Amino acid sequence: MGNVGIFWVCFVLLMAIQAMGVSTAAPVNQTSDHKKIFKEKRSRLRPIDNIFKLPITSRPWPEGNGFASGVLDLGELQVSQVSTFSKVWGSHKEGPDNQGASVYEPTGIPQGFSMLGSYVQPNNKPLFGYVLVAKDVSSSTTNGTLKSPIDYTLVFNTSTISASQDFTLFVWLPVAPDGYKALGHVVTTTVDKPSLDKIKCVRSDLTDQCETTSWIWGSNDLNFYDVRPSNRGVQAPGVRVGTFVARIGVASGPPSISCLKNLNSITQIMPNLKQIEAILQVYSPFLSLHPEEKYLPSSINWFFSNGALLYKKGQESNPVPITQNGTNLPQDPNTDGEYWIDLPPDDANKDKVKIGNIQSGESYVHVKPMLGGTFTDFVMWVFYPFNGPGRAKVKFLKDIKLGKIGQHVCDWEHVTLRVSNLDGQLWHVYFSQHNRGSWVDSSQLEYRNDSSSSDFPTKRPIVYATLNGHASYPHAGLVLIGKNGVGAKDDTVAGGNVMDMGKFVLVSADHLGKSVIEPPWLNFYREWGPRINFSLDKELKSIKKLLPGILKRLFNDFIKDLPREMLGEQGPTGPKLKNNWIGDEA
Ligand SMILES: *[C@@H]1O[C@H](CO)[C@@H](O)[C@H](O)[C@H]1NC(C)=O
Ligand SMILES: *[C@@H]1O[C@H](CO)[C@@H](O)[C@H](O)[C@H]1NC(C)=O
Ligand SMILES: *[C@@H]1O[C@H](CO)[C@@H](O)[C@H](O)[C@H]1NC(C)=O
Ligand SMILES: *[C@@H]1O[C@H](CO)[C@@H](O)[C@H](O)[C@H]1NC(C)=O
Ligand SMILES: *[C@@H]1O[C@H](CO)[C@@H](O)[C@H](O)[C@H]1NC(C)=O
Ligand SMILES: *[C@@H]1O[C@H](CO)[C@@H](O)[C@H](O)[C@H]1NC(C)=O
Repeated sequence: MGNVGIFWVCFVLLMAIQAMGVSTAAPVNQTSDHKKIFKEKRSRLRPIDNIFKLPITSRPWPEGNGFASGVLDLGELQVSQVSTFSKVWGSHKEGPDNQGASVYEPTGIPQGFSMLGSYVQPNNKPLFGYVLVAKDVSSSTTNGTLKSPIDYTLVFNTSTISASQDFTLFVWLPVAPDGYKALGHVVTTTVDKPSLDKIKCVRSDLTDQCETTSWIWGSNDLNFYDVRPSNRGVQAPGVRVGTFVARIGVASGPPSISCLKNLNSITQIMPNLKQIEAILQVYSPFLSLHPEEKYLPSSINWFFSNGALLYKKGQESNPVPITQNGTNLPQDPNTDGEYWIDLPPDDANKDKVKIGNIQSGESYVHVKPMLGGTFTDFVMWVFYPFNGPGRAKVKFLKDIKLGKIGQHVCDWEHVTLRVSNLDGQLWHVYFSQHNRGSWVDSSQLEYRNDSSSSDFPTKRPIVYATLNGHASYPHAGLVLIGKNGVGAKDDTVAGGNVMDMGKFVLVSADHLGKSVIEPPWLNFYREWGPRINFSLDKELKSIKKLLPGILKRLFNDFIKDLPREMLGEQGPTGPKLKNNWIGDEA
């Protein structure tokens, strides 16, 4: 290929990158050095060479205390969040999608702050991450909250993976002075030990035990893992630092580095009421339902005023209508099955309530601190009067209807927005899927225009709900809960009804005290639906009758492995009874 050919390859490539609408690294001078551009082609094709920016028009948040002020005092130790990086090393292979990973040092560290560790990310996503940096604000000269390491040990070097890297990386673990702990690694591209003032260790009382989570990259038994505090919940003080841990072999036992701990109160940094409203206005997802969905969401008050009934054990023949906001629902915190909610008994009204009422649909938001107050979780609950039956795929039989299996009265689903209290950004979204779920980075979400916001054009995330079961996913498509082409179907398709989750009711936010009043239905601890009213064995038998012999066993096996929730549980309990009310997501 001549120079002209090369030029066109590069030109088309650059146009394609620009068309993706993501900000790119510094533009290359096309006229001066064709060869240089061509050499960069391989790396330019990787998502990580783009820096992700939320496609959201940012406006200043309403006035408050410390929310989004950039700095948090954990107790004689200030932390700030840095998300500008300079690349130290990269591997072109292995890791997620076999696209390799890149290692970075934070840059632009504010005056007076120090690095606590480096950052690593797989190459299959645009660059989007942070590490905390810290500043000692104690008055002690001998026993401060930060100290330099006394030495380094080499964790490993990458000389054995020469095929997928341009040079060797050396990963160092700081040796902390007595009473201090290391929170991350220093990385170099030479064999020389880094200088001792490169990084700081933190006084032990400000550190917390952490655990390895997702695998970020690995080759030849050399691995990078993400870490987070082991103990997480609304009361847990553990703070995620954003650094990674390097290990030889698979992760087992506690990592060699620690997380931070917040010894101070979190109330100053949590968003106030006005800020909560502004955050939800900017980040609330659009809920995209399946085009064939028959069982739509509704508001709680629509459900109550359209025939929902409260049953009491022993008085089944005499259920009572539920009043506005559930003011006549029992408020004692018991789960004894003494009461339950059900649809109206007559078929006409039952069918009318089952299909929900999307016009009334709204999200019910629980706001709570997470990760030592460095983040706020916005748990957004959506209510459906009915959860439709399951569907399965068994090899070439692509759509087997599972009769009554999986269906139940009332369905509580949620997604959780995790917003940083340091910079006010939406960093992650949790998608709940049948008592499990997954965290997705904001860089991996789909966004759509917010047409309700005409004064400033902006976009908000999309959440897809599966047909009948209403599990949530970041992208449309089929997910099989099973293996080898046999499983229950989680089916999402764009183009159906859309519910704006930005129409919300704030139902609980402990840090705001009495200014948020919990509706009585939130404190109904019993089941939102009757106990199972069909024989699972009978249902299974009638489905198996229709299957060819060789598929019968496969079908049996996958049914055995399904989460209980998908087999048709009794009516679910409300949001307050779920583990994530005080804990982290599953
Ligand atoms: C690109 O390179 C040419 C030739 O070396 C030079 O004259 C021009 O100023 C450069 N442009 C930029 C934007 O660096
Ligand atoms: C340093 O401070 C920590 C935490 O306040 C305390 O536990 C420790 O005893 C102090 N050490 C010295 C030598 O003063
Ligand atoms: C780099 O790692 C290899 C393989 O573990 C080891 O043999 C070598 O001594 C290391 N090099 C240095 C300079 O530590
Ligand atoms: C019931 O809910 C509505 C909004 O859904 C609210 O305006 C009203 O104040 C609530 N009433 C009670 C008694 O909680
Ligand atoms: C979304 O908004 C942008 C900017 O306002 C506009 O250019 C674009 O056409 C819109 N896209 C859709 C699908 O409406
Ligand atoms: C349970 O099923 C039986 C028989 O199908 C029916 O008669 C009864 O009304 C059902 N009970 C409830 C609570 O739906």
